[in-house]
Amino acid sequence: QVPVITIDGPSGSGKGTLAKLIATELGFALLDSGALYRVLGQAALKHSVALDDEAALAAAAESLDLRFEVSDAEEGVKVILEGDDVSRQIRTEQAGATASVVAAIPAVRTALLQRQRDFASLPGLVADGRDMGTVVFPRAAAKFFLTASAEERAQRRYKQLIEKGFDASLPVILEEVKARDARDMGRAVAPLKPAEDALVLDSTQLSIEQVREQVVEQLNR
Ligand code: C5P
Repeated sequence: QVPVITIDGPSGSGKGTLAKLIATELGFALLDSGALYRVLGQAALKHSVALDDEAALAAAAESLDLRFEVSDAEEGVKVILEGDDVSRQIRTEQAGATASVVAAIPAVRTALLQRQRDFASLPGLVADGRDMGTVVFPRAAAKFFLTASAEERAQRRYKQLIEKGFDASLPVILEEVKARDARDMGRAVAPLKPAEDALVLDSTQLSIEQVREQVVEQLNR
């Protein structure tokens, strides 16, 4: 049994950063499941698949030609779609919004399920997303749910985008954060919510370092 640690939460809660820190600390592999949905959204746009064509999107998910490449670059991992590096392209707000549209389709989620589970390998896996603890790895060794107020998450997202050289507007991002929350929490399949056995951490008033300490403390129990 491969040990799996799940970190779920809404967009901008810091779960991606936290997952990276924990994976590095433990020497575990990392699954950024959001990247799968982001890449699928971009693949759909690239091949002119309509975002409401559920059968075509499920087929695209099934045959998605996606690779994660470990790199020395800042981002750590390169995301390769059909041979092209889309690491930067998938990180825009627009790509996140498109991802949350395709992610609401049940057949898409089913198509990506095994692909996500295949990331589990020794010595272990840290998986971050929305349904890692509830659906993909229900028997995970440790589950965390990281949250923060919408205002705080928008603020962080704004800073990140500016630092990466993207154009951004805080009020627009706050609206986008709220819209994405509504879509992720309101959908019929795998809605965003903590697993019953997850430890819920609110990072509104905490630095990522403080969150990391709490997670490590919990893992050492
Ligand atoms: O985490 P990230 O912001 O990259 O995810 C982009 C979108 O993909 C989310 O808003 C959500 O709709 C979807 N997603 C999901 N299940 C996951 C990870 C992401 O539905 N496990």
